[in-house]
Amino acid sequence: MDGNGRWAKKRGMPRTYGHREGAKVCKKIVNRCIDLGIKYLTLYAFSTENWKRPQDEVDELMRLFDKYLDEIFDNRKQKARILFLGDKAPFPAPLRVKMEKLERESEEYSDRTTVMFAMNYGGRDDIVHAARRAAQLVVEGGADPGDIDEKMLDSLLYTSGAADADLIIRPGGEKRLSNFLLWQSAYAELYFSDVLWPDFDEKELDKALNEFALRSRRFGGV
Ligand code: IPE
Ligand code: MG
Repeated sequence: MDGNGRWAKKRGMPRTYGHREGAKVCKKIVNRCIDLGIKYLTLYAFSTENWKRPQDEVDELMRLFDKYLDEIFDNRKQKARILFLGDKAPFPAPLRVKMEKLERESEEYSDRTTVMFAMNYGGRDDIVHAARRAAQLVVEGGADPGDIDEKMLDSLLYTSGAADADLIIRPGGEKRLSNFLLWQSAYAELYFSDVLWPDFDEKELDKALNEFALRSRRFGGV
């Protein structure tokens, strides 16, 4: 979800205004994906690198996450499995508690859309975290280093149990992955849009899905 800051700047407003509008779009897109029956939706909300931003912007983002999670709780028609990707430890304790509670309480919707919020997420951190857990299994669990294979590492990632990414949509004009789902995107189709995130809507999502439907996917085969 990129382009909030530029969207606000174009309107002579502080960056945080863009984040507030972006959060509203996030809700719209989540609902649309649930309605479409999409099995997994991953939203890149906050990267391991985003802590470098000015403290007041980070604080505002934390406040927005807190408020947004409350709205998910209240909105019981939004029956979706909620998961968070990334280490929760650096988040303020009340936010962390809310994240854990949502994960626990949405477990009953496991057969529906799974919405994964990548928060304090980095693709490299994801792989390091999985490698560490694999090493632990070798040291403590009696596994053999030779047992570590793609299937095992995949099962130790934050996205454990979820399918690989089929389509990655990046709004905001930049053409890079910025440390998003590096392992899981091995065969993902990439879609770049110049639309800034606060202007991204259901129509833009449909455009991306329609283009995805036209792609020929061979996964290295012929
Ligand atoms: C949102 O967009 C990304 C978040 C970290 C929430 P940006 O804040 O990166 O907006 P731009 O790229 O500066 O316009
Ligand atoms: Mg950006």
